[in-house]
Amino acid sequence: MVLNGMVDWNRKNLEVKNGHLWIGGCDTVSLVEKYGTPIYVINESTIKQRFNSLKEELQKHYPKIRIHYAVKANSNIVILKLLYNEGAFLDCVSIGEIYTALKVGYSPEQIIYTGNNFTNHDLEYALSKGVIINLDAFSQIMRLYKIMQRTNSTSDLLSFRVNPEFGSGHHNHCITAGPDIKFGILESSIVRAYKKAQELGFKRFGIHMHIGSQILEIEPFKIAAEKFLEIAEKIHRELGVDFEFMDFGGGFGIPYKDEEKPFDLKRYATTILSLFKEKIKEYDLGEPIFCVEPGRFIVAESTIILAEVNTIKQTTHKNFIGIDAGFHNLIRPAMYGSYHEIVVANKIDQDPKKRYDIAGPLCESGDILGRDRNLPLVEEGDIIGILDAGAYGFTMASNYNLRPYAAEILVKEGQDYLIRERQPIEDLLKFQNIPEFL
Ligand code: LLP
Repeated sequence: MVLNGMVDWNRKNLEVKNGHLWIGGCDTVSLVEKYGTPIYVINESTIKQRFNSLKEELQKHYPKIRIHYAVKANSNIVILKLLYNEGAFLDCVSIGEIYTALKVGYSPEQIIYTGNNFTNHDLEYALSKGVIINLDAFSQIMRLYKIMQRTNSTSDLLSFRVNPEFGSGHHNHCITAGPDIKFGILESSIVRAYKKAQELGFKRFGIHMHIGSQILEIEPFKIAAEKFLEIAEKIHRELGVDFEFMDFGGGFGIPYKDEEKPFDLKRYATTILSLFKEKIKEYDLGEPIFCVEPGRFIVAESTIILAEVNTIKQTTHKNFIGIDAGFHNLIRPAMYGSYHEIVVANKIDQDPKKRYDIAGPLCESGDILGRDRNLPLVEEGDIIGILDAGAYGFTMASNYNLRPYAAEILVKEGQDYLIRERQPIEDLLKFQNIPEFL
């Protein structure tokens, strides 16, 4: 059967039944009837499956592993809770994420705080909560120490983010290590950083890197890991630092396009953990906990956005499908030129007939979710599904054009749960004050 969009339904945990797209045992058409559009529909079993498959692969090779889920990919509290129950740790990048994680029930020891350009307020908050602080600039050590003195707080554990001067990623914006990248501390300053921390009384240490996002090959991870381990060796040799944990970052990709192969977890685990075990022995680094911090890999494929077609516009140049979801719901196509598979959820088994551009409702010509897509004949009232929207979808959403945030629905074994209500329009005026002279 030729389907619109060439999708590996099985892998995405989606089903085709009675001409409709189904997710988590629920008919997308019924979900739209119940909740309206646009909505994000999240399949809980995909999240659990991705998390556990990663955990199992890593555990096969080394007993001391930790998966710090990167909250920035999707910070819905239900997802955080679900992952908590599966044994996840977290990677937080702001005090908002720390606040949310603690509210969900994570303990401070389960949270690594990898901020960037921390304010004093950020550091004070993190210290007061007791999370693991992962600094990314030399100058921040002294500031942290002064705040500790001023607030009488104690902490003997500290980590630094290393920039191994090698990065990778699907777009320039998403390469997070390299010579001209803002993140982390270069090898040339890293020994000085740990030395300073030792002098100030820190006794327990971690080390961290993150090289980029949406990486499908294993080679970049290997190159960076080799460099990272060498840097750790140098710190250990020169200062006698023993690392409690070594965090190799996230960045594992997912297949957005049909021709892309899924991330090879087995190869990642075998390659990186063999290297890790070999080098910790050779470099006399003891037995640090092996940490990773994936976001996208765990949540991206769990979620589809459902939107309604409100306008069909055929011009002499293009066929436009106008829908009620736009880059205020999913900015990745507009921001990075990213590809997301798009299907007609209520005509899922019909053959492609026409080439369309799928356009959102925002007043920007860049509000296009997909270009030149072959789809069945689309009519106003049809339902469009945008796939793989679980990572950096809602978390990068906005109220642009004063469009309220969409609702989020969790689906599990044929049941649906409204886990975030559609933002009421009245909310859009919240926190604005009109001065008296007006
Ligand atoms: N750890 C750190 C320190 C990070 O900065 C990131 C992502 C992650 C972990 C998780 O990376 P992941 O496993 O999700 O690739 N908005 C972009 C992605 C930006 C990623 C930034 N850092 C996108 O939609 O493609």
